[in-house]
Amino acid sequence: MNLIRRPRRLRRTESIRALVRETKLSPDDFVYPLFVCEGEGVRRAIGSMPGCFNLSIDELVKETEAARRDGIRAVILFGVPDEKDAAGSQAYAEDGITQRAIRAVKREVKEIVVIADDCLCEYTDHGHCGVIKDCEVLNDPSLDLLARTAVSQAEAGADIIAPSNMMDGFVEAIRAALDGAGFEQIPIMSYAVKYASGFYGPFREAAQSTPQFGDRRGYQMDPANAREALREAALDVEQGADMLMVKPALPYLDIIRAVRERFDLPVAAYQVSGEYAMIKAAGRLGWIDEERVALESLTSIKRAGADIILTYFARELAAKLA
Ligand code: PBG
Repeated sequence: MNLIRRPRRLRRTESIRALVRETKLSPDDFVYPLFVCEGEGVRRAIGSMPGCFNLSIDELVKETEAARRDGIRAVILFGVPDEKDAAGSQAYAEDGITQRAIRAVKREVKEIVVIADDCLCEYTDHGHCGVIKDCEVLNDPSLDLLARTAVSQAEAGADIIAPSNMMDGFVEAIRAALDGAGFEQIPIMSYAVKYASGFYGPFREAAQSTPQFGDRRGYQMDPANAREALREAALDVEQGADMLMVKPALPYLDIIRAVRERFDLPVAAYQVSGEYAMIKAAGRLGWIDEERVALESLTSIKRAGADIILTYFARELAAKLA
């Protein structure tokens, strides 16, 4: 046996492995998703997402401050309003839960980047992401409401708008509305490639946003399609998106890689609630090493090409990675 090439030479010690490691996670990569609800002193556990909570604004500020201290630079906020109606009017109300939350976090927490999720499903009584007529989600009338939501979030102080509702033309509509209101400096992180996924289950418990009839397959993408993802992303690039998101993350690593290779905008990937819940659940049962699997999943998402990762593990892991 005369082996000249021995890859194991570079795996012998942790110091050597660290030297040749290609992908390193950092808290700078993470965006921490948080759910904000009405009330005071509320920290309501979300059953299917251990470690995540519905937070009232005062608690949200505390959680954001603590996350900032742990090295997190960005949060994405989801509002859970008390009042829902057919038009999702609390999504774009000046004193809506999300708008008040954005103001409070921007006022109290220095140097935190606040990303606002721009969608209607948490605010509509039917739970769909747009305006309904005869059980159909109408595209163009929904755009007006999404654009209004974006402007109200920017007025409240949001640093980045992240539209997630998958209506055709949403980036163009939101860009025009933001520019018209003097917010030409506010970037759009488009959920460009968002699949109709079973992995969103726990989020819908957290945000109380389960559709009351039908499902989201008429606007979110078919999990079977990859070429279509590139068409979706290309449209958003043409319309002025500043960043592209792929969602969910781990089951769609091929899509993250394809978007990374085709476009040079920053690519974000969302490790969604179901991905988080599965790791937490198996960890709790003692079937996997939770922290190790979480780190391995996030490393894989970054290795596939994501620059930014939205993850409910953000705060937990930031301290470990710092
Ligand atoms: C809003 C939205 C959803 C998620 C992020 N933004 C829910 C959905 O589309 O049903 C899911 C995030 C997660 O599962 O963690 N449309």
